[in-house]
Amino acid sequence: MSFNPSLCRNESEVESKLIVQYLLPTLGYDASKWHQEVALGSIRLDFLALTSQIFPSATDSTPKVCVVMEAKHPKQNLDSHVRRLSRYLTRLRVVYGVLTNGKDFRIYELVGDQVKLNFQCQGIEIDDKIEKIKDIIGRDKLAEFKNNKPIDLANLVNLPQKPAPLISELIVSPSISLQLSDTNISNPKSMKTIAIYHNKGGVGKTTTTINLAAAISRKGLKVLIIDLDSQANTTYAAGLMKFETEEEDTLKDSNIYNVVFYPKSNYIPEIALKSTFTYPPVDVIPAHINLIWQEARLVDKDSSKTHLVKKLELVKDDYDVVLIDTPPSLNLYAKIALIACDYLIIPSDLKPFANEGLRNVKNFIEEIDEFRTFINKPAIKVLGVLPSKILTNANYIKATLPKQEKVVEERYGFPVLETRIFQREDLSRAIDNFVFEGDRQIPDPKSIFDFKPDSISAAEFEELANEVLEKVGLSA
Ligand SMILES: Nc1ncnc2c1ncn2[C@@H]1O[C@H](COP(=O)(O)OP(=O)(O)OP(=O)(O)O)[C@@H](O)[C@H]1O
Ligand SMILES: [Mg+2]
Repeated sequence: MSFNPSLCRNESEVESKLIVQYLLPTLGYDASKWHQEVALGSIRLDFLALTSQIFPSATDSTPKVCVVMEAKHPKQNLDSHVRRLSRYLTRLRVVYGVLTNGKDFRIYELVGDQVKLNFQCQGIEIDDKIEKIKDIIGRDKLAEFKNNKPIDLANLVNLPQKPAPLISELIVSPSISLQLSDTNISNPKSMKTIAIYHNKGGVGKTTTTINLAAAISRKGLKVLIIDLDSQANTTYAAGLMKFETEEEDTLKDSNIYNVVFYPKSNYIPEIALKSTFTYPPVDVIPAHINLIWQEARLVDKDSSKTHLVKKLELVKDDYDVVLIDTPPSLNLYAKIALIACDYLIIPSDLKPFANEGLRNVKNFIEEIDEFRTFINKPAIKVLGVLPSKILTNANYIKATLPKQEKVVEERYGFPVLETRIFQREDLSRAIDNFVFEGDRQIPDPKSIFDFKPDSISAAEFEELANEVLEKVGLSA
C-alpha cells in the first residue's frame, strides 16, 4: 500500500485517503481499534487509535499510550493547530498526537506535562518513512508499553463493535467524561450570548461577528446578531442597507435603539430582520447612525442598560447563539453589550496599540462586572483574545506572533483563542461585494462562506466556530 498526497484535496480526503485507507491499516490498527469523531467531554477528536478495543480511564492521570489524529484542509497551516492538539493531549493525558493536512505530517508526544514535536515529514515522504512512523505510533510498538492499564471501554460507553462509530454513537458516558472546560456554564444547551468587543477600532470585530454568525448558522444553530455600533457596519455587512436615499431608510425607526429605549414594547421579534448575507439566514437587530445623538437620551435613563438583558431573556428559546457587535469605544452602547452578554471575544491584531488597549478592556470588564452583581448576573466569561487580521508572513508567524500572544496572556491575563484569523483579501472583498441592476450598483455583502466557501478564511472561521461552540458547551 502506498500514499499519494495529491489525492487529498480537502479535509475529508485527508481523513479518508491518508488516515483511514492508508495510515491506520499500515500502522496495524484494524477497524475495531480506531474510532472516528470521538467526543470525550467537550473535546471532539477526529480519530482515536487504540492498542486494544478499549480506552483507558479518562479520569486516571496516567498517560494513555494511544494516538489522537487530527486532519486538516491541505491549505491550512498546521502551526495554527498545534496548541489545540497540545491541549487535547495534556487534558486527556494521551501520549501521541498526529497532525496532518496531507502535505505536512507531524507526530507530537506528551512528555511529562509538555507536548513536543517527535517527528515531522512532508506528505510525499510518508511512504518512505513509514517504518520510522511505525516505530513511534505503530500498534505493536504501543502495545509494548506496560503502563497502559486499560479499562474495558465497552463497559463504559455505548460502543458499537464495527465499523468505526460516529460521534453520535460514541459519546463517552458521564462516568468518564472530563471536566474539560471551566468556561461551560451550568445549563449547557441554553442560549449563549457572546459580545465581540475591543475599544480599539478596526481590529476585525464586525468581520468576526458576521462570519462567525454565518459559520454557526451553517451548523444548523439559530443565530441572532445585534449591532450596537452607530457605524452600523454589521447592519451593512448583513445586507440590510440596500437603500439609496434617506426616504427609503426603513431602519431609522426600527433598530437597536428601540430595543434598549423602550421597556415594555419594541421587543426583539418586532425589530429583528432576516439577513441576506448568508444561508441559512440569521436574524439581525440593526443599528443606525442616529444612535450617536440618541445616546444622550439613553444616558439619562438608567434602566436602558438592562432592557436588552430582559428582552433577550424573552427569546432564549428562539436562538442558540446571540452575537453582539460593539463600537470601538467605552460608551453606553459598549456597556449595554457587555451587560447583556454571557461571554466575550476580544479580536485584536496584537499590535502594540491594540495590546495596550487591552488594559482598558480589562478595566472596563471590571466596571461592568461590578454592575452585573447588582442585577444578579455572573461575571463576564472571557473566551479569549482572538488573533485577528494577522499577517501571513511566515517569519512573523513563527518568531513574533507567539511572543505577542504570550504578552496578552502574561501581561493582561486574558486567554488567547487557539484559532487565528489571518489578514486575507477575500474577507474584505466578501463584505464589499456588489451586484449590478441595470446600471445601478447595489451592495450585496456576503459572508466568506457565501462568497468563497473554499477559501482559507472560510476554513479559519469554521475553526473559530468549532472552538467557540466547544468553549460555550454547544458543540455537537
Ligand atoms: N482578517 C482580515 N483580513 C483582511 N481584511 C480584514 C480582516 N479583518 C478585517 N478586515 C478589514 O479591516 C477593516 C476593519 O475591519 P472591521 O470593520 O471588521 O473592524 P472593526 O473592529 O469592526 O472596526 P470598528 O472598530 O471601526 O467597528 C475592514 O475594512 C475589513 O474588511
Ligand atoms: Mg465594527
